[in-house]
Amino acid sequence: MRPIAAALSLLLATTACTTMDAQPPAASAERLVAPILTTPDAVDSSTFAQPQVARVTHVALDLALDFERDRVGGTATLDILARPDASQIVLDSDGLQVSRVTDGRGNELDFDIGERVEGKGAPLTITIGNARHIVIAYTANPQASALQWLDPEQTAGGEYPFLFSQGQAILNRSWIPTQDSPGIRQTWEARVTAPKPLDVVMSGILQGEPEDLSNGRRAFRFVMDKPVAPYLIAIAAGDIDFRAIGPRTGVWAEPAILDRAHWEVADTEDMVKEAEALYGPYRWGRYDMIVLPPAFPFGGMENPVMTFLTPTFIAGDRSLTGLVAHELAHSWSGNLVTNAVWADSWLNEGVTSYFENRIIEEIYGEKRAEQEAALSFAAIEDTLAEVGTDVPGTALHQPDGTDSAGSAIVYDKGAAFLRTLEHEVGRERFDAWLRQWFDNHAFEPATSAMIYEDMRKNLAHSEAEAERLRLREWIYEPGLPANVARPDPAAFATVDAAAAAYGTSRAIPAAAAWRKWSSAERQRFLQKLPQQLSAEELAQLDRQLGLAATGNNEELFLWLELALANRYEPAVPKAEAFLAEVGRAKFVRPLFATLMEEGEWGPPIAQRIYAKTRPSYHAVTRGSVDKVVGWKE
Ligand code: BES
Ligand code: ZN
Repeated sequence: MRPIAAALSLLLATTACTTMDAQPPAASAERLVAPILTTPDAVDSSTFAQPQVARVTHVALDLALDFERDRVGGTATLDILARPDASQIVLDSDGLQVSRVTDGRGNELDFDIGERVEGKGAPLTITIGNARHIVIAYTANPQASALQWLDPEQTAGGEYPFLFSQGQAILNRSWIPTQDSPGIRQTWEARVTAPKPLDVVMSGILQGEPEDLSNGRRAFRFVMDKPVAPYLIAIAAGDIDFRAIGPRTGVWAEPAILDRAHWEVADTEDMVKEAEALYGPYRWGRYDMIVLPPAFPFGGMENPVMTFLTPTFIAGDRSLTGLVAHELAHSWSGNLVTNAVWADSWLNEGVTSYFENRIIEEIYGEKRAEQEAALSFAAIEDTLAEVGTDVPGTALHQPDGTDSAGSAIVYDKGAAFLRTLEHEVGRERFDAWLRQWFDNHAFEPATSAMIYEDMRKNLAHSEAEAERLRLREWIYEPGLPANVARPDPAAFATVDAAAAAYGTSRAIPAAAAWRKWSSAERQRFLQKLPQQLSAEELAQLDRQLGLAATGNNEELFLWLELALANRYEPAVPKAEAFLAEVGRAKFVRPLFATLMEEGEWGPPIAQRIYAKTRPSYHAVTRGSVDKVVGWKE
């Protein structure tokens, strides 16, 4: 059965913007309200909300950023859609100090913050009676898990503080009192003040020029008039400048890195065009990016109209711009059609990883796309070799209670699934199917069951064909189905031969040849080297290939991992410097994990470095490394 997805409807919202002191945005009279799903597989165990009783449809924030106290506070005005008999609404919160809740006319409403559940926060229950607009006055905790307040020393400029948020998956409840569930879409607007000369960006469209206030601050206004999952509300503030790329694309970064950032992402406007040619119009207006300080815990985050990026993807040769293609692709898979629950993350990340590769093929050609697909496939094989092909965590759909086998399943197996379908039915048929999936579910949540039904109906056309494609097996079973489209072995023929030669005779590629290889090829070579190497062998590799000196952080990471796994003392200072600067969990966690696995040698080094670097990491990175090094506060 196809889950019930009510058609997108218009809600005539009565305009009572109590906290906004200027004109409400034009769209406020007729806001889009997205449907929610009500099937059991769409029930989100990570929220306290009961959306079938009462749900938030619009959030209006009026906030001040306090860089002295690491605090954001102000009001959140919520529009509510509720059953006539609903007397309460339940929101998510985590560490919020709520001082007052009122209705649209300023009457106090009772509220209660329930018991905190580790990792989930606490329910904020408000007695709404007949009120359908409520105003929550609150401040976030300085330790709010979504926010990272950087000292000037953690920025490139070194002069001003910096703030950024990271909402996915369930962190936004630490700074916004709303229903923090990907299936409860909300439109939003915000007025945010910050001290001069800092600029504020958000994942909404900036309205006009910032307003100069008398107190040395400026007010910035943003609007997101399309219903989005609330994990996609994002903010950053700092000493940043903007430079345009194309008519609807541009990049923000600190002045000191703007030139390099701008050059690296110069293909973005073309990427948007190619993405549109593949799977339909870009529906969000602008596509801007911000390159953040290196403490940002992810490679990238697909915040609508304002992708957040780590600076560690800047290699000086555009070799790591798959990251941009990936975050852009989320404008369809993830932001337009969104996993209703995190158990179906593959709908966001797997579909996006496939789409990313199609953009890379259009912009940089088949060879690079094939190589990147081969790296991605190798990640699946590594994970399956490590955890086994029959553990439940290797299925794409990961119901509550299963421990996911990690990103190689959600991202790479997800991408391999779509690639397999493409190979099985042909590009034309596959692309037409994926495009209709985006079009028919635009601005709506989705589940595994929905895409399965959709594939059976609109891609396979018959039961026999659905069987042949192994649709159910791909989505619900562990391991890799037999019809998987394997990468072209020719993609890495040269480099695999070179790695094999090193394995047998310790022959190192010539420096000139190494430099001509693509970054994917260099990464492949580093991954295919023997796991156990002597200090002398590592020294020779480094001397000939300049590994420790590379400006490519993916390659540097692989080198450091290999070196530390072999207790190679000369790599420790470089690793320490890297870990002191970079907060990206994908790099930081494995490096600490590698050290922790090295008997007597590694753990003391890990503990020593972590004691110094831990305060500079985002809560996401801290959380994952704490487990690895057994950190106790
Ligand atoms: N949406 C993710 C980041 C994310 C995933 C945040 C899960 C929180 C929970 C983003 O689109 C992403 O996948 N980033 C990758 C880059 C990509 C090229 C694979 C990253 O950060 O490494
Ligand atoms: Zn992603």
